Amino acid sequence: MTNKLRACYTDSPDDLSINYFPLFIRTEKGKFLALDLGGTNFRVLLIELSENHFEMKSKIFAIPQHIMLGSGEQLFDHIADCLAKFMKEENIMKERLALGFTFSFPLRQLGLTKGLLKSWTKGFNCSGVVGNDVVQLLRDAIKRRGDISIDIFAILNDTTGTLMSCAWKNQSCRIGLIVGTGSNACYVEKQKNAELFDEPDAGSGQVLINTEWGAFGDNGKLDYIRTQYDKNIDQDSINPGKQFFEKMISGMYMGEIVRQALERFTKEGLLFGGKGSDLLFTKGRFYTKYVSEIESDYSGVYTNCREILEELGLKHATEQDCVNVRFVCECVSRRAAHLVSAALCTLLNKMDEPHVTVGIDGSVYRFHPHFHNLMMEKISHLINPHLKFDLMLSEDGSGRGAALVAACASAKKR
Ligand code: GLC
Repeated sequence: MTNKLRACYTDSPDDLSINYFPLFIRTEKGKFLALDLGGTNFRVLLIELSENHFEMKSKIFAIPQHIMLGSGEQLFDHIADCLAKFMKEENIMKERLALGFTFSFPLRQLGLTKGLLKSWTKGFNCSGVVGNDVVQLLRDAIKRRGDISIDIFAILNDTTGTLMSCAWKNQSCRIGLIVGTGSNACYVEKQKNAELFDEPDAGSGQVLINTEWGAFGDNGKLDYIRTQYDKNIDQDSINPGKQFFEKMISGMYMGEIVRQALERFTKEGLLFGGKGSDLLFTKGRFYTKYVSEIESDYSGVYTNCREILEELGLKHATEQDCVNVRFVCECVSRRAAHLVSAALCTLLNKMDEPHVTVGIDGSVYRFHPHFHNLMMEKISHLINPHLKFDLMLSEDGSGRGAALVAACASAKKR
């Protein structure tokens, strides 16, 4: 696994987006806005920074399915609309604030405020955006409205936002990891090792590399461990042939992997006395949050499990069915935690720094009761013995990180 991940980098160097962000940003002050698009929710944030302290207000807005699959113009109009609503509520319509945009999709980043979308991932597939600068699309949408004015100072990936936000508190943070709707990581690399980055050293000698590791395996390198369930998930997705690693790990797919296994075992007569239900046999109907809830039951007690099975029309489940359902959930979530840990160890071992803190965000890591412990255990096995690491949950990581980068970039301009 370790070597294969490295091989994936060298096979397709185009998949790495490289960027430079200053890591020391504690001294900026004032109000800053952030947008966070690409996870379970779309959020708008307002952050007020004072010395070593910040206050944050945020609001979650839904992105309806027809917009996720509609045109780019509809998507960016909707984003601008949510931003304007939020600014109105916060009484800042008349202010011209700096904004950081967390846009959690693969970008060819051409500067701090220019990023061309390489491809959509997760549940999005808006037309007319791939190949275009998403900052410009947002600026155009804001201009079309004409009622707010904003200075966009940065566009960044959620992994980068998470790293920046953790580094604000903990200077040993050198990796940003997301295990949520999707999965990805970025890390701090010595600029001399970043052959694709040809800008002059801005002073730190370091760059951030967004690995986009969700795409690991798209070239066949994971075929030896992909199961029939993984293949079905890929076939049924809106981006077949893409994001193989992510599809084995992240929240968008985990529940469906479990559901497929349960469906098969039921049809083979191994579960529920061979009698399933319409909901159990409906694609996408076993939510990833069920996996976390079922595994949150104390050992030997199946309260959540029973409730979920009843909700799915499986009232007839026996105690042994509950034991088995929980076991399937554990197999799928443990595999995800182990895969993430293996990839993380590749980075930790490559960086070879004595102590690295990993800033982590995402619904799977946050809500699954054992994910953290599973990762701690597996990383301890795989990491080079002389290296130390910490896993740090990021509080509102990606959005806040975007505001911090905007704060830093706007101060630099002043
Ligand atoms: C997907 C996106 C990536 C993002 C990750 C986590 O893999 O391609 O950019 O960081 O999801 O949200």
